Amino acid sequence: MSFFSSVMLVIIISFVLSFLLLHYSWASPPKEMDQIPGSLGWPIVGESFSFLSNFSSPCGIYNFIYQRQQRYGKVFKTFVLGRFTVFMSGREASKILLTGKDGIVRLNLFYTGKQVLGPTSLLQTSGDAHKRLRRLIAEPLSVDGLKKYFQFMNRLAIETLDQWPGRTVFVLEEASTFTLKVIGNMTMSLEPTGEEQQKFRANFKLISSSFASLPLKIPGTAFYRGIKARDRMYAMLNSIIYNRRSGNSFQQDFLESLIVKHSKGADGEGSEDNKLTDTQLKDNILTLLVAGHDTTTSALTWLIKFLEENPAVLNKLRVEHLEIQANRKGGTNLTWSEVNNMPYTAKVINETLRRATVLPWFSRKASEDFEIDGYKIKKGWSINLDVVSIHHDPQVFPNPYKFDPSRFDAPIKPFSFLGFGSGPRMCPGMNLAKLEISIFIHHLLCRYKWTTLEKDDSVLPTLVRMPRNKYPIVAEPL
Ligand code: HEM
Ligand SMILES: *[C@@H]1O[C@H](CO)[C@@H](O)[C@H](O)[C@H]1NC(C)=O
Ligand SMILES: *[C@@H]1O[C@H](CO)[C@@H](O)[C@H](O)[C@H]1NC(C)=O
Ligand SMILES: *[C@@H]1O[C@H](CO)[C@@H](O)[C@H](O)[C@H]1NC(C)=O
Ligand SMILES: *[C@@H]1O[C@H](CO)[C@@H](O)[C@H](O)[C@H]1NC(C)=O
Repeated sequence: MSFFSSVMLVIIISFVLSFLLLHYSWASPPKEMDQIPGSLGWPIVGESFSFLSNFSSPCGIYNFIYQRQQRYGKVFKTFVLGRFTVFMSGREASKILLTGKDGIVRLNLFYTGKQVLGPTSLLQTSGDAHKRLRRLIAEPLSVDGLKKYFQFMNRLAIETLDQWPGRTVFVLEEASTFTLKVIGNMTMSLEPTGEEQQKFRANFKLISSSFASLPLKIPGTAFYRGIKARDRMYAMLNSIIYNRRSGNSFQQDFLESLIVKHSKGADGEGSEDNKLTDTQLKDNILTLLVAGHDTTTSALTWLIKFLEENPAVLNKLRVEHLEIQANRKGGTNLTWSEVNNMPYTAKVINETLRRATVLPWFSRKASEDFEIDGYKIKKGWSINLDVVSIHHDPQVFPNPYKFDPSRFDAPIKPFSFLGFGSGPRMCPGMNLAKLEISIFIHHLLCRYKWTTLEKDDSVLPTLVRMPRNKYPIVAEPL
């Protein structure tokens, strides 16, 4: 059996077992689901096999979805990954589910994610509590809030790229290291090299891989290792928080800005609204790491890959960056105002997120009964919004498989481009992701040309879509 299919098998078995462990019963899909068209597949595994085999193919779950949409329409039920699920597609569904008006849906995490991230994570709150947390988190992630990390990112991008020529570079790995160092500096002023960074990285990897694991807290399982790594990460945060509180160290980072908010509340000066407990602090720092790392890594890697595959776009983008460089008076350093004025780069980023759709579906749970497209959805059902189809709708994106940033020359219809989602759960890390990508791409395009060592379009069977071969390249100076 290939490595590939064994990975899938492990995933399937994990999901099936987690399903059984969570005391659902195959024998009883919700009765009201009868009215929804679709097939629930084989007992226990449902349609997980075709789902997962499609998942890791170049088109992603699109084949799976497309076949069923042809048969059943834009709303259909299935049974995948241990859940009875209704898939929905189209702008109308997108609008209803993402604006979540009147709080009809909540985010739908897997059991493992809930356990690892903790109960006060942004991803586990809804309604007013969610709104409040978002407000606190949004501030340091705003364009203004990000300015102070610009030099760090810039230097790190330059140093990372210094190491590229003369060897095989796995872009995915480089992107992963780069983005993790950035978020480590931003959240807790972690040095980019050294023992602390290594520990942080090792723990983070264990935490990441525990998400799609068997939910058994027994020594030896990935889930157990993930929980342990999470505990070590929290211990590290505890000591940092302790030092900050006792005034032994002061850093202008994310943690600091959240602690300041916390203390205001504790003094009784700030309103109760601004109070964050230590648990909330830790849960949400971890949430930012988890939500922001793989996504940004993946987007940066796809972008570099799409550029190589589309030389006309690459040339046009390089012109934008070489012009920025040429117009610079003295010094060769990228500036803050330059990085915020890269119109074509912004379109290339959006087109990358459309074509790659790094989060192929958004998962929700109905908080109450509601109706969509004439179908009755019942409280408690799991609903997935199929973003891949929305991003490849030929009515909105003619010739949808073509990589063409000029699609974004004109505004896109609302709820058709969901690279960063939409509505109250729209990605709060959007500006950060764009900033990291723009800085990295600037230095890459001004310095190097590159070719890939292996043409392969398959993707890793992980929730965030990434090239399976990590996109190996060789780079040389222009
Ligand atoms: C290119 C990179 C990124 C992409 C494509 C991306 C995409 C998304 C999408 C589509 C959602 C909405 C999911 C849904 O509605 O179910 C989301 C939510 C979220 N993102 Fe990002 N993201 C990226 C980078 C980041 C970064 C850098 C951070 C943090 C530093 C971050 C933090 C979050 C958080 C915390 C949420 C949950 C928001 C909530 O539930 O209110 N993301 N992201
Ligand atoms: C996708 O799933 C369908 C069944 O739903 C299957 O016939 C098809 O071969 C799968 N495609 C890939 C690329 O795995
Ligand atoms: C983090 O980034 C800031 C802003 O560039 C920088 O001043 C600081 O030295 C960095 N911290 C560490 C520990 O590298
Ligand atoms: C550009 O800035 C980085 C730090 O952000 C610095 O290390 C480097 O020396 C600067 N390069 C030039 C040519 O000014
Ligand atoms: C890219 O997408 C974002 C998020 O949907 C949107 O706000 C922005 O205007 C788009 N940028 C361009 C240049 O199309």
